[in-house]
This record gives sequence, C-alpha cells and structure tokens, in this order.
Amino acid sequence: MTMRQNPLGLALALLLSTTGALADGTDAILQPWPVRQPQRDAALEARVEAALKTLSLRQKVGQITQPEIRAITPDEVREYAIGTILNGGGGWPGQDRAATPAQWRELSDKFQAAALQATPGIPLIWGTDAVHGHNNLRGATLFPHNIALGATRNTDLVRDIGRATARAVRATGVHWAFAPTLAVVQDVRWGRTYESYGADPALVKRLGQAAVEGLQDGLKDGRGVLATAKHYIADGGTRRGIDQGLAQTSPADLAHVHGAGYLGALDAGVLTVMASFSSWTDSASFTPHGKMHGNKTLMTDLLKERLAFDGLIVSDWDGVGQVTGCKDEDCPQAINAGIDVVMVPFKWKAFFHNTVRAVEQGRIPMARLDDAVRRILRVKFSMSVPTAVPATVEALQAPELARRAVRESLVLLKHRPGLLPLKGNARVLVVGAAADSLPHQAGGWSITWQGRDTTNADFPQATSLLAALRQRLGAANVVFDADGSTHDPKQFDAVVAVLAETPYAEGEGDVRITENLRHSRRHPQDAAVLQRVAGRGAPVVTLLYSGRPLYVNDLANKSDAFIAAWQPGSEGAGLTDVLVAPAGGKPWPGFTGRLSFPWPAGPCQFSSHEAKPWWPVGGGLSGKETRASTRPLPEPADPQPICPL
Ligand code: GLC
Repeated sequence: MTMRQNPLGLALALLLSTTGALADGTDAILQPWPVRQPQRDAALEARVEAALKTLSLRQKVGQITQPEIRAITPDEVREYAIGTILNGGGGWPGQDRAATPAQWRELSDKFQAAALQATPGIPLIWGTDAVHGHNNLRGATLFPHNIALGATRNTDLVRDIGRATARAVRATGVHWAFAPTLAVVQDVRWGRTYESYGADPALVKRLGQAAVEGLQDGLKDGRGVLATAKHYIADGGTRRGIDQGLAQTSPADLAHVHGAGYLGALDAGVLTVMASFSSWTDSASFTPHGKMHGNKTLMTDLLKERLAFDGLIVSDWDGVGQVTGCKDEDCPQAINAGIDVVMVPFKWKAFFHNTVRAVEQGRIPMARLDDAVRRILRVKFSMSVPTAVPATVEALQAPELARRAVRESLVLLKHRPGLLPLKGNARVLVVGAAADSLPHQAGGWSITWQGRDTTNADFPQATSLLAALRQRLGAANVVFDADGSTHDPKQFDAVVAVLAETPYAEGEGDVRITENLRHSRRHPQDAAVLQRVAGRGAPVVTLLYSGRPLYVNDLANKSDAFIAAWQPGSEGAGLTDVLVAPAGGKPWPGFTGRLSFPWPAGPCQFSSHEAKPWWPVGGGLSGKETRASTRPLPEPADPQPICPL
C-alpha cells in the first residue's frame, strides 16, 4: 500500500515529520524514559543570572575549559579565567606521587586565588577520580572497587564510603569526584568491569544513588563534593566489552538497563554527568548515532530536557576529539550537542582560542554557551567551595569502614565444610607474590592510573594480607614462600594462596579477542604456585584478586576453599576477619558477599547473562554449610585462546 492509497498514513507521517519525531526517531528514543519535572530554586537562579551577566566571551569560554594540573599554572588560570581543573590518574601536585595533603591544598589555594581574581565571586572547581577513596593521594584509605561493593549489596555501606571519600577529597582542597561509574556491564572482558556495581540494573541504581548521596552529603557546608554520574550512556554495553567501543542496544534497553543508574543518580540530586567515550547504535531501528560526545538527542533532548537535569555535562578526557569532524582542541559539534565542560587536559589553550572564535563566527550560538555557563554557575553556587576542611589524618582515612567493606565483599565459591575459619593458633604457609603486594591488593586507579609502577612503599597506610595474617596469628605462625617452592605444606595447618590479575585501568584491562577468561593462561605463574602446594598434606585456601569474574575451574580443583576477593584495597585485615576465627570466641561472621556478576563455567563465558555459569548472580556460600559440593569441576582442555566471535 502506498501513501497515496493510505491518506491516514500520509497524514500521520506529515504530522510526525513536521514535529521531527518521525524524521529522526527521537520519539522512539525518548519514549521509554520517564518525564521528570525541573526543581529550580529562585534565589539560586537569580544569583546565576546576575553572575552570567558580568562575564565576557573569554570569561565564559574559560568557565567551560578544563585543563589538567600538569598543564596549567595559577597565572594562566588568571589570564584565561579558567573555571575548572582536574588531576588525571597519576596526576599529583608538583608531579610528586608523595605529595602531602598540605601540598594538595596549597596548590588548590593558589589556583583558587587566581580564579577568583579573574572572575570575582565565581570559584574554580577541581575534579579528581576518587573512585575507591581519594586514591591518587598517598596515605588515603583505599576501599574495595565497585564490583566488590556490588557483592555487599549494602546501600548504607556505599553511602558511608561516599561520605568518607568526600571528606578525604575536600581535605586536600579538591571539590569534585568523577564517581560513581553507573555502567551495567554486559561483557566482563571490559577493562572497567570492576568499576561497575554489577549486571543487575536495579542494584546499580540502588548503589549508585547511595554513592551520590554520600559524596554530595554536606555540599553546602564544605563537607561534600560534587559527584559524577558516568559514563553517559551504555559505556558497559559495548560489543565484546571493547573499551570506548560500540554499544548496540534498543532504546528500551538503553533506558531500562543502561539508564537505570542515571535515574537513581538524578533522584539523589547528582550535579554532574560525564559523557561516555563509547558510541551507540539503535539496534531496533539499525540507526547509528555515533559517539556519545556528539549525541544531542541523548545529552540534551533526553537528559537535560525530558529528565530535567539542571547540572553540567563534562566530557571525558579529550573525548570531544572522537566526534566525527572534531579535534581535541576544536569541537563546536560536541558543545552544541550538550557538553558543558570540555575536559581538554593538555590542549586547553588551543581549545580556548578555537572556541572563542567559534562563538564569534556563530558556529556555537551564544545562547548555547550561556546555557553551559549557567549550568556551571548553578553547580558552583550549589556548594561551598573555598573552604577546604583541615587535612587531619582522620579526614583522609577510614580504615574500619574499609575493613568492613572488605569483609562484606568476599564471595566464597568453594569450601570443604569445616575448613574455615582457620583457628586463631593455626600455623599457615602463605604463597603467591600478591599476598604481600599492595599494588595487586588495590588494583587500578591506585596512586597511578593503571595501578602499576608502584610498590608497597607507595601505600604506607595499608596492610597486606600477609601482614594482617602475621598480626592475627603471630609472625612465628606465618611463613611466606612467594612461589611455594621452598617449604613443605604438610608442616602447616593450612596453605593460604593468593592469585591475582595484574592491575589495570580502562582499555588496558580489556581481555582481547585473542585471549579468554582462563586465569591460568593469562597468569601461568599463579597456576604453577598452586601446582606446587596442592595435595601436599595441607588444605589450600585460595584467594583471587581480580577486577572481574574469571574462569578458574583448574585452580579451584587444586583448592579446598576458593574465594573471590576482588581488589580489597588498603585494609588487608578485612580478609583475615573472615579467614580466621575471631579472637575472644566471638561468633564467626562467615561469608556474606554474593556475586553481582555470574561466575564463568568456561573460558568463553564473557556475558553477564550466561545460561549455565558456575555460579549465577547472587551466588556464593556462607562457609557454614555442613554439606557443600567439593566435586571436581570439569576441566576441558583449553583448545585455543580464541573464543567464538
Ligand atoms: C578517563 C576516564 C574517566 C576519568 C577521566 C579523568 O579517561 O574515562 O572515567 O574520569 O578520564 O581521569
């Protein structure tokens, strides 16, 4: 039937095409989402408008430009009226990884003074990736990463961690945490799986909301920090888990799966959102929408208008440069699509001049620039900025809270009944280099971006599992034999083996299509250690430090207990709290952590929706079972690393 034969269809098409809804499918994209009502504060709006009127074009462009602290001086902040800065992973004051809280605050005060001279009454805001504590700062408590917090399922704990993180960040004169990540990961090959709370949208929504509430608690009185809902949107839905790749999902799944965390964050009053490096293709209409940083429908029509988000959208690191036709230092398209702050760490000066010119030439409407600056001012005036609370040690550390998070995050995947908890007078052989490696215990985003090129000396406040066992059992009862080749296990009551992924962040942690999830293949030294101690007269308790579920059947078969420990962070005592019977005859808590991702039964089970995993979402043992399967897990030969595409 043609349109001529179907006048009603013609009328509908004309109607929709005039509204544009049919033309580009916008309506189909927006329709699965709720309509939220804006909640404006008249006094705040008046203050914003009054401040906006005082700004020149250059000052406005300075507000939307975000350089990295290694690339700008306070004098340049003054000269260009820069309104925000960041330190990236591995960016420290004076480029000194041992910079003290006082040195962080001193630098912040210098940048702030310069900014306030350039734009009186409009403070500068400093952003940092505080994703598991104030993790760029030596001496700060490091919490378990989000994948571990997902295993706790504990909303109050996550909120308290947000508060503690905010206190540490504020104590160093920093105002903005680029957290929480709200990814609902679909393929655990993604190098950022550990930044996600899990595969269940409802869990991500609940914990993400709590994280924002904790981080932004006390924003007006100098305690809280700005939180960041990131990375908008569907960063965890890319094909094969390829970082910054292509997410192919329907508008309905975009809303109900990948969008769940954003609705929670908006309900918590989140003031900033970070755009995702990834791209989106609408799998219902087969429409490619390109890079998120250039997507006006999702950033403006959906987030800012339909969902009534009045805060600011910040780009990711040179993220605008990935938009078709753009360069890192020149991208009117991204700003016109809805980016309000451009994170342009090292090319900021060229960006500044190009953007001033773009506005002068009308390629960026002044109304759009004003809207971006209005949003920035609204965020800044929603918090108290210059007061940096004193950097007392208490402000930086929360060891007991972190220790509790470790305890509650551990997931027991295998257990010979009665083995755990170890007795308080047990004599144990500890094997696996990671048992005394704080870098492996902390994971990515720890002092450095990748969590590598660090040593235990970079974590003076932290306790390794080995040190915690020595504290708990007495040094004389704990022997460390990193590769397990020196001591005879049958001289001991138990062996504690620690296996670990090498720390990573972002794409560097992606499992490539030439690899698979078999831990033994990617870390053969771990398999060798276990081989040396298994079945040698002492039971083996194996802990795995990892940022994702992994295929470990061969390793679990060499263990009498197998624990998913994720990346516990600085408080190794949280591990011994569960491994060893509490002192003084207190009741043993057992294992309360339950998986927030399925645990693979095969090396190619990458999906968060595997039909027959070893353990499903919610899986895990308490350790108090009187009967638990210790039947050997199947160990098919690993035919080849390459899994079906
Ligand atoms: C990184 C990450 C983002 C982080 C930002 C600043 O590339 O994608 O999560 O907040 O850059 O370090």
